Formats: sequence, structure tokens, C-alpha cells
Amino acid sequence: MFEYEGLENEWFEKYKINVPLIDSDHLNLFMEIGRFNEHLQSGMSSEELEKSLSFLDKYVSAHFAREEMLMREKGYPLYIEHKTLHLQFKKVVFAVRRVFQTDIDKVDKVKLNDFLYNWLVEHIQKVDIKLAPYVNGPYIGTGLYSTERLQSITLIEQAPLDEELVEVTVKVPMSKQKVIERCAYAFMHNTPEAQDLEEIALAATGMTIEEAMELAEAVLIN
Ligand SMILES: [Fe+2]
Ligand SMILES: [Fe+2]
Repeated sequence: MFEYEGLENEWFEKYKINVPLIDSDHLNLFMEIGRFNEHLQSGMSSEELEKSLSFLDKYVSAHFAREEMLMREKGYPLYIEHKTLHLQFKKVVFAVRRVFQTDIDKVDKVKLNDFLYNWLVEHIQKVDIKLAPYVNGPYIGTGLYSTERLQSITLIEQAPLDEELVEVTVKVPMSKQKVIERCAYAFMHNTPEAQDLEEIALAATGMTIEEAMELAEAVLIN
């Protein structure tokens, strides 16, 4: 199993991709996975572990969002492929959280720690590393989200969607009204975030325990 002891000292030489914002996020992610692993080994209750994994999940999501914004700004040509990998990882983490809530004993703690750590290492070294030349220059991407493309997307997004709009009346907690309005705006204008929102909403509200077990299979006890 991976040893987290003394990580900071050797970390930058091994895993940096030379984009300071992303590198410091990655270091923090390593540390958070280490902290979560300590919690896994310490015999915490399933609720406490779910909370700890949920914290890690939030940090991961914030990091992915920062990386994706940089990719869009720089017209990174592999944006969609990269973002899809982020989404797949988030789905597995969500599935594990779902299994935690139901039966924590089904999760193999060593496999889970190794999965999180190995995914991050492989993703940094094989996927994130390709970003650096685009973020640091001299390349300017000509992919889907190049500056020209972004300008045209803005125009497309402001045009009416080729789909009938329906009016929905729902009661929501007052404190969530703004969030719901912003989600509705993203769907109405088909912004780049709309696909994320749809997938996250489906995962968060529609994942049965059987689906979660299938997605999280690699980290469950055989
Ligand atoms: Fe990434
Ligand atoms: Fe990353």
C-alpha cells in the first residue's frame, strides 16, 4: 500500500506537471486521500466515513472544475475526453458513498484506498500532463472550445433551443431557490455545464444500490 509519510518532500519532483495552480491542487488531493485512508483504517462509523469521503468528493469536484475551466479558456482540444474521465471517476466515488450508506462491510478498504491513489497518479501522469503546453503556451488550441468556438457557442446559447420549453412549478426550500434558477438557466441555454448537471442529478437521485454496487465493483469485497 502507498505510504503517505513524507509525501510533500518528494511530491513535486515526481508528480508536478508545471502548472502551479493544478500542481498545488494535486498535492492537496494526495493529502486528502491520505487523510481519508487514515479514517478508513481507524474504525470510524459508516456515517463518519461517508462524511469524510463526501469531503474528498467535494475537493475533487472543485479541482476538476478548475482544470476544466483552464481547458476551456485555452481551447484545449481534448477537453471532452478529459472531462468524460473526470465524470466517470466522480460516478464511482458517488457509488462508493451510496454503498457506504447501505453496507459499509461490502467495501474493501485497501482496494478503495488503492483505487483512489492509483487513479489520481495515472490521471496526472497520463492525462493532466498533456494540458501543460496548452496552459503555459505556446500552443493555442483549435479544438471544440477554442476562443472562436466559445464566441459562437455564446451566440448559439442565446438563440432559442430547438426543443419545446415547458413550464414547471415546484416548491423548493427558499434557500435553494437561486440554485434551482441557475440550473434551469443552464438547461434553457444549453451551457457546457448542462450535461454535467444532468448526469450528476441522475446519479444523485436515480442510483439504486444495485447500480452503485456495479459501478463500485472494483473496490468491493469479492
Ligand atoms: Fe484531470
Ligand atoms: Fe487533475
